[in-house]
Amino acid sequence: MVNRRELIAAAGLAAAAAGPALAAGQTAPVRGKSRAWRIGTPPSIANLTLVSRDTPEPGPGQVLVKVVASSINARDRGIVAGIFAIGANKASIPLSEGAGEVEALGPGVTNVKVGDRVACCHFPTWFDGRWSPTVYESDIGNTLDGWLAEYALLPAQGLVVLPAAVSFESAATLASSGVTAWHALYEVARLRPGQTVLTLGTGGVSTIGLQLARASGARVVVTSSRDDKLARLRELGADFTVNYRAEPEWGKRVLEMTGGVDVVLENVGRPTLDQSMEACAPGAFIVMIGTGPLPQQLPKMPGFYTKNLTMKAISNGSVRMFADLLAGMAAAGIEPVIEKTFAFDDAIAAFREMEAGDHVGKVLIRHGAG
Ligand SMILES: NC(=O)c1ccc[n+]([C@@H]2O[C@H](COP(=O)([O-])OP(=O)(O)OC[C@H]3O[C@@H](n4cnc5c(N)ncnc54)[C@H](OP(=O)(O)O)[C@@H]3O)[C@@H](O)[C@H]2O)c1
Repeated sequence: MVNRRELIAAAGLAAAAAGPALAAGQTAPVRGKSRAWRIGTPPSIANLTLVSRDTPEPGPGQVLVKVVASSINARDRGIVAGIFAIGANKASIPLSEGAGEVEALGPGVTNVKVGDRVACCHFPTWFDGRWSPTVYESDIGNTLDGWLAEYALLPAQGLVVLPAAVSFESAATLASSGVTAWHALYEVARLRPGQTVLTLGTGGVSTIGLQLARASGARVVVTSSRDDKLARLRELGADFTVNYRAEPEWGKRVLEMTGGVDVVLENVGRPTLDQSMEACAPGAFIVMIGTGPLPQQLPKMPGFYTKNLTMKAISNGSVRMFADLLAGMAAAGIEPVIEKTFAFDDAIAAFREMEAGDHVGKVLIRHGAG
């Protein structure tokens, strides 16, 4: 059994108290050049640019990580394309998910050591406890530089050490979609065996949500626009599937098939809210994950009062939740679904793959290290 405390990078305090990276008269070790993908001007997938830069030297509280793999989320695609604005997008290097090996420590860092296999919570300042919007000020791949580089400079306090049973590739897919699904299922809805979970679509959040829920002894319903994707989700253990294109009233269909779901991973948002509510059993939790736009017709919210539903929005999760997720995945032997793997040099093709929307699960980028 993996000890959660061993996974959590509890540093931060020592790091923050440390002095400057170099004493007067000292010179930084020469690490040479390495490559990184930079968000273009104007931002667009076509304008992503591969650059050679001086490999950064970690300052106080920072860690230099040799990246093995990274992956793309819906929001990363939005950031690269200049259409995701929460937190004002100051990062020049994209991607909120990745994994690699610790190469060097900045002054004061005590929670990890050189050679450790690590990933990083994409809100590194949210260690535990209650959510605060201030975490967007340090948001990997959004307001802080992300993983799409040969070497990533990351805040030590957000790092989690990977259990031996979790590969770099698996860990690289989790910081956003995995932690979000974990937060929804276990922190908000407190999922129990025998309950029924509805998860929308077949992308990153939905697929890991299905895998976690099945491992917890829950029944799972998945919706998709494509029967071939639904067939793959049944192979992964989905108990019920519905094509939302073929059945626009899919909420009623889910209610008939299941008798009502206990938890909804609402991965689309307001456009699908009414159907999700139709699908619910009394007392169900609807966890708002997707930020889809308000539909032309205002949601009617069927059953919100009569079924006493609970609706809660979440923004990703904390470092502690990420550590819990990794421990859970190691114990249950869950391996995330990776649709396609691209070489680091082919990052633009990886973003195009996400844009096409043909994937089930995740699109991975292999950086060559590890
Ligand atoms: N709140 C948070 O912290 C948080 C964290 C991560 C992601 N998100 C959000 O969650 C959503 C999913 O992210 P992701 O990374 O998993 O995206 P993704 O891998 O690109 O998957 C998107 C999925 O959306 C599905 N979809 C689109 N319209 C749908 C509809 N009307 N009904 C059901 N499914 C529909 C598609 O399903 P099919 O192709 O199968 O039809 C597709 O698989 C995005 O909106 C993202 O911004 C939020």
